[in-house]
Amino acid sequence: MHSIAVTNQKGGVGKTTITAHLAVGLARRGHRVLAIDLDPQGYLTRHFGLKDELYRAERDNLALHLTNDTPGEVVDLAVETDEGVDLVPSNYDMRGVADALSNARNRERRLQNVFSSLSDDAYDYLVVDSPPNLGVLTDNAILASRRLLIPIQAEDSSLDALEMVLDEVEEIEVAFDIDIEILGIVPNLVPRDGVAKSTLETMRSTPGLEDLVLPYEIRKRADIKYAMRRGETLYAYNESSDMISVFDRLAEDVERSVN
Ligand SMILES: Nc1ncnc2c1ncn2[C@@H]1O[C@H](COP(=O)(O)OP(=O)(O)OP(=O)(O)O)[C@@H](O)[C@H]1O
Ligand SMILES: [Mg+2]
Repeated sequence: MHSIAVTNQKGGVGKTTITAHLAVGLARRGHRVLAIDLDPQGYLTRHFGLKDELYRAERDNLALHLTNDTPGEVVDLAVETDEGVDLVPSNYDMRGVADALSNARNRERRLQNVFSSLSDDAYDYLVVDSPPNLGVLTDNAILASRRLLIPIQAEDSSLDALEMVLDEVEEIEVAFDIDIEILGIVPNLVPRDGVAKSTLETMRSTPGLEDLVLPYEIRKRADIKYAMRRGETLYAYNESSDMISVFDRLAEDVERSVN
């Protein structure tokens, strides 16, 4: 079982979009995939058309598992989506998790503990969407996954944001004495203009980044936004979109890099 977190503290760069499409892309390659929505905003849950899950107070939920010292079985939280992947939805209780964990023991390892209740053959891939800040939830996503995809927008402000994520990753590696692998920095929302092109060229030739920034990009496409709004991925909304092959390539690259 391989776990991948999609993370960047910068908001709106495509974490949720990439998590959803990677999950479905991997499922379409024959893998059993569990997507986990670690963001209290719940956009991944909405992206799979499961908005109602966010309001279900009576149900056992991820927030309870993260704040409880003895988490239950994470498979009990998984719901089926229409797109061939299972999802652990977010929930409005997730808004209180960061505060509840602020002084808690092993607070950064809660998701890792939650995952440890999964038998190794339950899923082939766990794909985790993280919130837009460098807080305890993002630390949990990184520690539980140890493999990261970092979406960026091809603009100069992304470089500063990227530096912050990379610093955070390094700090976690040192603090917990673990190795974290960056599977790729994924350029997203790339418009067809010279500025974006030259920003990407700069990133791809920056020492330390050149091997990390993927050699292809996800372009800005209205259909990606429309699909999300309808609660489905592009795979369900418009399979003839030219971005389908890009998401497929991402899934294929992830598959290759974990094996
Ligand atoms: N390649 C794209 N083309 C067009 N729209 C996109 C693309 N990628 C993402 N979007 C849209 O941009 C918005 C932000 O994307 P998304 O929610 O995936 O980012 P995020 O990093 O998860 O945001 P947040 O930080 O709020 O969690 C969404 O409305 C999404 O549909
Ligand atoms: Mg998001």
